[in-house]
Amino acid sequence: MTEEIKKGLAGVVVDTTAVSKVVQETNSLTYRGYPVQELAAKRSFEDVAYLIWNGELPTEAQLKEFQERERAQRAVDDKLVQLILDLPKDCHPMHVVQTAVAYLGAVDPEADTEGPEANLAKAERLYAQLPTIVAIDHRRRHGLDPVAPTKDLGYAANFFKMVFDEVPADEVVRCFDVSMILYAEHSFNASTFTSRVITSTTSDLYSAVAGAVGALKGPLHGGANEAVMAMLEEVGTADKASAWIDDALAKKAKIMGFGHRVYKNGDSRVPTMRKAFEDMVAVKGANDLLDLYNAFEEDFVGRKGIYPNLDYPSGPAYHLMGFDTEQFTPIFVMARITGWTAHIFEQQANNALIRPLSAYDGEDQREVPDNRG
Ligand code: CMC
Repeated sequence: MTEEIKKGLAGVVVDTTAVSKVVQETNSLTYRGYPVQELAAKRSFEDVAYLIWNGELPTEAQLKEFQERERAQRAVDDKLVQLILDLPKDCHPMHVVQTAVAYLGAVDPEADTEGPEANLAKAERLYAQLPTIVAIDHRRRHGLDPVAPTKDLGYAANFFKMVFDEVPADEVVRCFDVSMILYAEHSFNASTFTSRVITSTTSDLYSAVAGAVGALKGPLHGGANEAVMAMLEEVGTADKASAWIDDALAKKAKIMGFGHRVYKNGDSRVPTMRKAFEDMVAVKGANDLLDLYNAFEEDFVGRKGIYPNLDYPSGPAYHLMGFDTEQFTPIFVMARITGWTAHIFEQQANNALIRPLSAYDGEDQREVPDNRG
């Protein structure tokens, strides 16, 4: 075999993008030129969604218009509500999200209409409706009826209202909003690349998003945030962390929430999300969970020099916000819909079919036998 194989496309630059920049050397991440930590400190997820799609932060008037459009589109149709309610209660919530996205494509007469305006309208509708979809699914698993969206609340507060039928303290809503900003976009990660591959065939935006949802579900990608919480629950308490890690490493298991394909010396989003997690610990008085979190991190980083990624603090933070563990990755979808669709627009604007080559290592060419033998 003479071809050079780039397993996992590691280190391969596939295309240009103006949406975000990941700088491996300095572990930094910018969205449209703005450092993500500064966006999380100074802006809301609504501002950031607008930025990711439009390239600039909104003015006061632009933000108001954008928020009004989002609030007006939150409700989903009754058939979709019924479709969600009819799915098995023990199926993974990412299958529910994927089914709902496919449904929204099926009922949109403009699904195959091309052009930036039509596609931005579809992206904004998905951004407005995904929280409603996730909330309906969260509640049905507890035997609870859906809570209708309300136009009186901002994006994050409305989501809490639809899930829990109440809005928590402002600090909790703010921590959630910060997580959404940090999860919104991350260049050519596996799910975004999936959406670009699908778009490159000139397929529609819903198909690209449904494919991206499937890629995000895996524990090596978005599924890590729920896997982190399941892992911390299995470990139990801080004093058990070391023995648990011994055991996991002896089995050659991957430790969820640690390591990154691009960042090798720490993920720039982690300090901001860790602070949000600590704020949640303070609100809930969950010091045992913080002790476990710290002990586990210190032990694992000390042994392997592999640092936490965003999923490590976000998993326990969502837990303290009251969300079911299996809904953490659908919440990630609510944020990443912005990044995915911005990349879909870029791919559409400057398309080339994504079709790599493979190096064949199977049987040499041979004749089909005349008989089955
Ligand atoms: N636990 C144990 N060992 C690890 C881990 C980990 N989490 N991450 C990397 N390693 C080791 C790995 O075993 C390998 O060791 P060796 O060279 O001795 O075989 C070495 O580090 C390189 O790992 P790799 O898997 O080849 O590196 P990668 O760049 O392909 O993997 C990763 C990146 C994210 C898939 C991996 O770090 C991992 O599986 N992490 C756990 C899952 C996780 O937290 N995923 C979320 C990723 S970030 C957010 C997101 O995208 O959603």
